[in-house]
Amino acid sequence: MNNLNLDMIRAEFPALHTRTVYLDNAGGSQVLRRVADRIHDYLLTTSVQLGASYAESQAASEKVLMARRSVAELINAQHDEEVVMGGSTTGLMFLLTAAILPSIQAGDEIIVTNSDHEANIGGWLRLAKAGALIKVWEVHRDSLQLELADLDALLTTRTKWIAMTHASNVLGTINPVCDVAKRAHAVGARLCVDGVAYAPHRLVDVQDSGADVYVFSFYKVFGPHHAVLWGKRDFLLSLPTLNHHFIGAEILPYKLQPGNVNFELSYGCIGISEYLAHVGTMLGASPAVSNRQRMQLAFNAFSQHEDRLAEKLLAYLRSKSTVKIIGLSQLGKNQRMPTISFVVADRLSEAVVRHMDGFNIGIRFGDFYAKRLISALDLAAHGGVVRVSIAHYNTAEEIDLLVRHLDEAIG
Ligand SMILES: Cc1ncc(COP(=O)(O)O)c(C=O)c1O
Repeated sequence: MNNLNLDMIRAEFPALHTRTVYLDNAGGSQVLRRVADRIHDYLLTTSVQLGASYAESQAASEKVLMARRSVAELINAQHDEEVVMGGSTTGLMFLLTAAILPSIQAGDEIIVTNSDHEANIGGWLRLAKAGALIKVWEVHRDSLQLELADLDALLTTRTKWIAMTHASNVLGTINPVCDVAKRAHAVGARLCVDGVAYAPHRLVDVQDSGADVYVFSFYKVFGPHHAVLWGKRDFLLSLPTLNHHFIGAEILPYKLQPGNVNFELSYGCIGISEYLAHVGTMLGASPAVSNRQRMQLAFNAFSQHEDRLAEKLLAYLRSKSTVKIIGLSQLGKNQRMPTISFVVADRLSEAVVRHMDGFNIGIRFGDFYAKRLISALDLAAHGGVVRVSIAHYNTAEEIDLLVRHLDEAIG
């Protein structure tokens, strides 16, 4: 069986019982009851400092280690200590680039894109102060893709880092990170991937991605406001400590978690892996298969379902002569996420979105902190794009309702 049982799925998300149609999922997804229950359990039974000898403290330490193990499994990290957690992707990126700063030498080159969320640009730009030369891999204005040929023209033996997004939070495009990783490693550079817009739709496999660092936030993946930065162990070990002087550079991941992690939110994240494995089991995974294989089955079903809904919306948008889809207008084969942005001729994006507010349909307009992309595509005059971002728990009926009211707004 490969069809999602949406009643079963939606029952896992208490917020979906209201009238609101949540189609701003790339902004933040709804939270699993399993996640909230774990946070509640942690706070009410083990909210003590870790590392003491009494029973509750031992239990709390165990729960935080379980959380790290669970996240390591979710992303396929080879070692649990490679899992660094923090409050947000933005915060973790600033920590990462602060840790890299002392190793930067004048003339080192760093490549960022102009299509990323600012979280994976701003911290890198600060390295210019240490003498790094920043180069920008620009999205192709016609294809709206990051073309590998354009990257090749920027790469040199002085390239130290490439920072890019796995999937754009505006265009929805899935970028070829494996190909980029090969190119980066061929010149001795490293690759840092923002997986925020990818992780809600595909099973992350940090090893398979080829990246050296991979970062995303759990509040986009059915969890709390909490985030993970994975890095290859050797690379993380090479970084200086960002913690107290007595937390040495060999102490992973604590040296990169100054002030420590939020324990209850970390523990809550176990609910994400548990849910995904549960969906895999419901879909008929055999008892012999691993948790990750179950999760993979869940994501296969999610992406099939999301593609059906995305195609419904894309087909409608393609049929309107006044609408310009900002991103690939066809799904293609594993080329785009169900995050769909567009503008309407002679219409401010805000006006379209405000019309939907009246029907409890939550969508959104703006630049989504991908300001450089919006300005490169000359979309600021529209007030940015209208963005509809679908999650696996959305229904075909919700998309029909969206399309009906969009049609009133678009005309
Ligand atoms: C692609 C992408 N990267 C990074 C971020 C920033 O994540 P955080 O809010 O956890 O800093 C976002 C948030 O919208 C995003 O969409």
